[in-house]
Amino acid sequence: MAILVTGGAGYIGSHTCVALLEAGYRVIIADNLCRGSAKAIKRIECITGKKPAFYCLDVTDAAAVDGLFAANKIDSVLHFAGFKAVGESVAKPLLYYYNNVVGTMVLAGACQKYGVQHFVYSSSATVYGPNKVPFREDMLLLPAANPYGETKAISERILTDAAKANKGWSVVLLRYFNPLGAHESGLLGEDPAGVPSNLMPYITQVAAGKRERLYIFGGDYNTPDGTGVRDYIHVMDLAAGHVRALEKTKSSPGVHIYNLGSGVGYSVLELVRTFEQVTGIAIPYEITGRRPGDIDICYADPGKAYRELGWKAGKTLAEMCRDAWRWQQANPEGYATAE
Ligand code: UFG
Repeated sequence: MAILVTGGAGYIGSHTCVALLEAGYRVIIADNLCRGSAKAIKRIECITGKKPAFYCLDVTDAAAVDGLFAANKIDSVLHFAGFKAVGESVAKPLLYYYNNVVGTMVLAGACQKYGVQHFVYSSSATVYGPNKVPFREDMLLLPAANPYGETKAISERILTDAAKANKGWSVVLLRYFNPLGAHESGLLGEDPAGVPSNLMPYITQVAAGKRERLYIFGGDYNTPDGTGVRDYIHVMDLAAGHVRALEKTKSSPGVHIYNLGSGVGYSVLELVRTFEQVTGIAIPYEITGRRPGDIDICYADPGKAYRELGWKAGKTLAEMCRDAWRWQQANPEGYATAE
């Protein structure tokens, strides 16, 4: 029996494949490689000494997904495949709704047809919208400020209803906070195309001299130093959370929602200072206007994941900075860097 990992060549998916293979699971990756990289799959093998099976397919392609399910004995699905750039989702909402929502529906449909009962979904803290921190799983979700967030909330609802209608299904919805860092080998990491929209890849590119300075979006938030506060979590902690979530699906039918965050909020300036301390490199920055759709503070109440999954984030902000920087130095052009 195998675990199907959609988006396994992407940032969080690839790190989770390492954790799954190290935990002894057999892994099948499905990825269309439009944002992920084939090199990431090779490196998963390099790290673990185990070769995941790989299908180059788009999860919105129902016939291709059906073929995959027909040809393999799949025990569980971990669904990462999706677009995740907030700004792009505002510019291209139809692309986002189609890719993220249809992909979820096609996979859930295949699970129903082939009797696959275990499903772990990559959701996001963005579904909380401007709720009061710390965010708790039982809060009423507020509309997200962008189509990307809506695709996550809609996918959560689709999977929740599908789990109610299919006896024996177990669905775990994981709401990620802000993943940072990289595998400590420096072989896997975040590889954004073009100008990074997320904070850490932007900082590492400034440190590497690829960009002149960091633009900090807003210095007038209602936070201790005026810059936005987020709950940063090491991507390998996040990966470990998926292994726990998968175990949960084996023992508990129904729908289970967990925040995967540290429970601690750091400001943009605190992250910049930590990066500077860890690497010894100064990060020039300029405080500019707020980015549309950003909230001031976002951090998790991670207690439920600890109580029910026995999981909590263990790695520090300094470790996230160290590992992100190691990845950037070893792979100045991401996976496009020549061997
Ligand atoms: N920021 C900057 N400059 C940059 C990039 C970001 O100042 O160049 C700031 C943002 O304003 C924010 C913080 O850094 O205060 C973090 O921004 P990111 O873009 O790294 O992350 P977000 O919190 O905006 O969003 C991330 C993911 C989303 C997810 C969300 C959940 O990108 O997919 O976390 O909290 F939904």
